[in-house]
Amino acid sequence: MKVSIIGAGYVGLVTGVCLAEKGHQVVCVDVNQERVEKINQAISPIYERGLEGLLKKNIKVNLEATTNLYKSIVETEISLIAVGTPFVNNEIDLTYIKEVSHQIGQALKEKSTYHLVVIKSTVVPGTTDTVVLPILEKASGKKAGIHFGVAMNPEFLREGEAIQDFMFPDRIILGGMDEKSIEILGKLYCSFDRVDTLRTNNKTAEMIKYTSNSLLATMISFSNEIGNLCASIGDIDVVDVMKGVHLDKRLSPIMPDGKRVVPSFTAYLEAGCGFGGSCFPKDVKALIAHGKKFGSQMRLLDAVIQINEQQPGQILLILKKHFPVLSGIRIAVLGLSFKPNTDDLRESPSIPIVKYLIEQNAIVKAYDPIAGHEAYQLFGDTIEFCNDLGQTIKDVQAIVLLTRWEEFKKIPEMMIHLNTQPLFIDGRRMLDKYHIKRYEGIGL
Ligand code: UDX
Ligand code: UDX
Repeated sequence: MKVSIIGAGYVGLVTGVCLAEKGHQVVCVDVNQERVEKINQAISPIYERGLEGLLKKNIKVNLEATTNLYKSIVETEISLIAVGTPFVNNEIDLTYIKEVSHQIGQALKEKSTYHLVVIKSTVVPGTTDTVVLPILEKASGKKAGIHFGVAMNPEFLREGEAIQDFMFPDRIILGGMDEKSIEILGKLYCSFDRVDTLRTNNKTAEMIKYTSNSLLATMISFSNEIGNLCASIGDIDVVDVMKGVHLDKRLSPIMPDGKRVVPSFTAYLEAGCGFGGSCFPKDVKALIAHGKKFGSQMRLLDAVIQINEQQPGQILLILKKHFPVLSGIRIAVLGLSFKPNTDDLRESPSIPIVKYLIEQNAIVKAYDPIAGHEAYQLFGDTIEFCNDLGQTIKDVQAIVLLTRWEEFKKIPEMMIHLNTQPLFIDGRRMLDKYHIKRYEGIGL
C-alpha cells in the first residue's frame, strides 16, 4: 500500500521503517527539516536497536522522508498520525493532533479518491471520533464514511525493543469508524501471519492502549509499595518476596515437562526506583484526568502515580541514612536513561535524584553507556560525565545504580579492586547483594 506517516518521531519512524521493510511504499512526514534530511541520508535521529540498519536498507527503495505533508496525502491511500500527545496543564495536549488533522483535511479537499486517516498516537477515548473526524470533515468539506474514513491503531512498542515489537507483534488492534475503515487498515497488516487481531470501534482501541499501560504501571507501583514495606519491617528482602510471588503457576505456568514459562510480565512485578519514559507517566495521568471528567475518581491510578513520584525519594532516604549531610560527598550515579537500551531520559527517575544531589551540593559523577550526551543537555556542567564505568566508581563514597544496563553486571568484580569500598545502592535490585560489601537496595 502507499502509506504516509505524519510525525517521524520515535513511534512514527519505527512504524515507517518497519512498514517499508514489509513491502509497503512509505513516506515519513515531519515538520523538522533536519530530522527529514537525516532520515533521507539513512542516519537515524534516535537511538533504537536495529533501526538504522533497516533505515539504510529501505531508504530510497520504498521509504522516503519529506516536509511536504500536502503532497504525501495526495499521493498515498492511507495516513498514520504519529505526532506527540504530551500531558500539559493536567490534561492530554491534542494541539499537534488537531494541527495535522486540519492539514490532512485541507489536502483531502483536492483528492478524488477515498483516503483512510489512522491515529497511531496514544489519545484518550473519544479523540478519533469526536476531535479528529470533525476537523477532517470541516477542513476537507467532505463526509467521513463516504469520502474518507478514520481509524485507530495503537502502538505497543517498547523502547529498545521497538523493531522487534513491531515485526513480531503480540496483537494488532484495528479500530475503525465502520467496516470499510477496519478492512483497509487490516490490509496494512496482511503480511503479519497468525497474530491475534482484534477488530473494534475507535474508542475501544483507544481504551485498550491506556488500559495496557495502566496495568503495567500499576504492577510496578504495587511492587514498589510492597518493597518499601519490606524495607520498613526489616529482615525481609522484596526480591525474595517477589520470587515467591512469581512462582504462582498463574504467573509462571508449569509445562507438562515440569519446566516453568517465565513471562516478561513478571518483570513489572519487581521493586525499583520507579517507572519513567514517554508513555507510562503521561498515559496514566491522562487517563486519570479523562476519567475524572467523566465522574470516575480513578483512586487506584491516582495512587499508582503518587507512589511512583515518591519512589526516587527512597534512594535518597537510603543515602541520607549513611550521609546525613550530602554536601561534599562524592557520589557516582550509574545509569541515567529511564531504562536500558535507550538514550531516552524522559521522566527518568535519575532526573529528580541527580537534581536533589546537586541541590545538596554533593559532588556527582555520572555514567550512562548511551544517554550521556542527552543528559549533558539537561545537567550541563553541574555534574561530571564519565566515559567509562571504571573511572566513574573510582574515588567515590557512594554509588547509586538507577538503570538496569547489562554492562553493570561487571560491577561486583570491578569493585573488588577498589582501595576502599563505597556504599552501593541498587535502585533496580539487579546485582547480587552478597557480591558487594556495603550493599543497600530498594526493598531491602
Ligand atoms: C508517540 C506518540 O505519538 C504518542 O502519543 C505515544 O504515546 C508515544 O509515542 P513519539 O513518537 O515519542 O510519540 O513522539 P516524538 O518523538 O515527540 O515525535 C513526534 C514527531 O512529530 C516529531 O518528530 C515532530 O517533529 C513531529 N511533528 C509534530 C510533526 O511533524 N508535526 C506536528 O505538527 C507536530
Ligand atoms: C511501554 C509499554 O511497555 C509499551 O507496550 C508501550 O507501548 C509504551 O510504553 P516503554 O515505555 O518503552 O514501553 O518501557 P517499559 O519497558 O514498559 O518500561 C517502562 C518503565 O518501567 C521503565 O522506566 C522501567 O525501568 C520501569 N520498570 C519496568 C520498573 O520500574 N519495574 C519493572 O519491573 C519493569
